[in-house]
Amino acid sequence: MSITLAQAKEKLKKYGQEHVLKYYEELTEEERASLLDQIEVSDMEILESCRHQEELTKRGVITPLAAMELPEIEANRESFTRAGADAIRAGKVGAVLLAGGMGTRLGSDDPKGVYNIGITRKLYIFECLINNLMEIVKETEAWIPLFVMTSDKNHEATVKFLKEHDFFGYKAECVHFFTQKMALAVDYDGKVYMEGKGKMASSPNGNGGWFVSLRDAGLLDLIHRQGIEWLNVFAVDNVLQHIADPCFIGATIQRKCVAGAKVVAKVTPDEKVGAICLEDGRPSIVEYYDMTQELMAARDAQGKPAYNFGVILNYLFSVAELERVLSLSLPLHVVEKKIPYLDEAGELVKPEAPNGYKFENLILDMIYQMESCLPYEVVRENEFAPIKNKTGIDSVESARELLRRKGVVL
Ligand code: UTP
Repeated sequence: MSITLAQAKEKLKKYGQEHVLKYYEELTEEERASLLDQIEVSDMEILESCRHQEELTKRGVITPLAAMELPEIEANRESFTRAGADAIRAGKVGAVLLAGGMGTRLGSDDPKGVYNIGITRKLYIFECLINNLMEIVKETEAWIPLFVMTSDKNHEATVKFLKEHDFFGYKAECVHFFTQKMALAVDYDGKVYMEGKGKMASSPNGNGGWFVSLRDAGLLDLIHRQGIEWLNVFAVDNVLQHIADPCFIGATIQRKCVAGAKVVAKVTPDEKVGAICLEDGRPSIVEYYDMTQELMAARDAQGKPAYNFGVILNYLFSVAELERVLSLSLPLHVVEKKIPYLDEAGELVKPEAPNGYKFENLILDMIYQMESCLPYEVVRENEFAPIKNKTGIDSVESARELLRRKGVVL
């Protein structure tokens, strides 16, 4: 039973959102119930956030955090790899694919993972990722449980696609889906947009809520039952990355860290990647738009740039540490986006330019919650080919070029 109309009115009034019921009288019984449900479960507290955005982005004191660089990794590769492979064979490692994003920059209505980047043959983004994971499965002769986060917007299409393609050879019993939460989307005055007469506009609430959503889906029980101690979390759009990389896992375990972050040396000090650092003495990530001239110019004891390593959204987390911080909240990011909405005449408009805000929690803020984090350097050309856009930087084109150089037939 959802809330009553009177209760819904009261909640909307409290947050100045009474317009949400504008078309209520026109709706069918079913649509009314669905709208009341949505009003009941939606967090409207966050809507106030766009009015005091400066407070949300306050940062602590940033100091450098040294990365484990390539020479050190090479010198220890054998021992790290053995430790990581042992953990995988003991069933202690799971992988989490973050695939709940909207991929708006790529401009396809389908989930990003179903995008075909092949030219003479079909090669889907999901296929690339599973191929990469399969390499480790073959090497260790152990299946790695794969948790796939989707959102209400792409869940059905994602599951259908992967099933139709037999999970590209991955063992179906080892794949577990869960959906992330949604957050309302508002105009610049903080008024919720309507995407239908009986539906408030909403979008996935960012990639930071993955562990809470995984728990809410009941998968934490499975993780405990199977004895999984580490989760390697990775983005859907980097087709080159190594997943469940034994050397990375082993390095994090041997350095006694509760988290690890794969990083690449930045090409330029102002490159648009988050830089790993310490913030008030805790591991953290300073986003590229928070990189001041001073931080960009800072040098370490060897005279090298002090904030030279950018994260690539491939992290390793200890499950125990994730559970320890479960009750802590993450900062909210208010992000300007294009939000489809009903205009005054009740017609759906798909804007060409940003027209409001979405609210997101980000995984990079989870690093600040960790007691320790090992920044682990990887070779950019080997492991970083993000697909954000169709052409240009971080695009289908640039990823194809990097794949070709690795000998992948497109
Ligand atoms: P991006 O920050 O690139 O966002 O996501 P996006 O939604 O995919 O793309 P744009 O910005 O609309 O073009 C980085 C990773 O985080 C996941 C994405 O699927 C991708 O793997 N993500 C992002 C989620 O799982 N949920 C979200 O709410 C947002």
